[in-house]
Amino acid sequence: MQVSGADRIGELVGGWIIDLFSDRPDATIGLANGSSPAPVYAHLVEAHRTGRLSMARARAVLLDEYLGLPAGHPRTYRAEIARALLDHVDLAPGALLAPDPSAPDPDAECERFERTLDAIGGIDLQLLGIGADGHIGFNEPGSPLDSRTRVVELHPITRRDNARFFDQPDEVPTRAITQGIATILSAHRIVVIATGPAKASAVARAIEGSVDPALPASALQHHPAVTWVLDTAAAAQLSPRA
Ligand code: F6R
Repeated sequence: MQVSGADRIGELVGGWIIDLFSDRPDATIGLANGSSPAPVYAHLVEAHRTGRLSMARARAVLLDEYLGLPAGHPRTYRAEIARALLDHVDLAPGALLAPDPSAPDPDAECERFERTLDAIGGIDLQLLGIGADGHIGFNEPGSPLDSRTRVVELHPITRRDNARFFDQPDEVPTRAITQGIATILSAHRIVVIATGPAKASAVARAIEGSVDPALPASALQHHPAVTWVLDTAAAAQLSPRA
């Protein structure tokens, strides 16, 4: 599906999420950070303000989190998602499930997070962005397709891309906890948002290329309910429709 403009993307995907919570107020949504889903969160905040969305009985799950930032640092993904969405809606305290980067044993924390996801019956709708190198979450090229939540080293290109959010490039953490590719694929429904020309090659390879760990987003081909929401620039390298 091709749409133009951030507002249209926000309205479209935000509308699906409002419908989900209206049908099933206790549904679980998976939240990504970054610029791609930002218009969706803006739409949800406005929908809550105008009485069209309640998340009071919902759960939210974070896709990934940096390791190594002090608790409460404004660039933790927990803080970012709070500013973008959760501080402005009525999600109950404690209803955000996220890897805890301050856990003394990060590997054990990843296992705890996986067990939590299992216990709640998985994520009903997972929002994703895609990196220019085809990453999803912090699953960089070469990530095993059967990977679960784990500690990863960030690729230098991802650190460079994310440096715009930090005062100094070397402040960008070198490690993160991310849901694995198999964890992401266990969501019941996935919506991937990509905008701008920098994503065009990865989008085309993910949708039309072979499934290959060199391009983690290609694994989404294995999922039965994925919707790609693309602007014209991000869709530019897809084959023309017959
Ligand atoms: C964010 C995440 C990343 C981003 C991806 C695209 O939680 O896990 O995979 O979705 O880097 O980022 P943006 O949307 O900023 O282009």
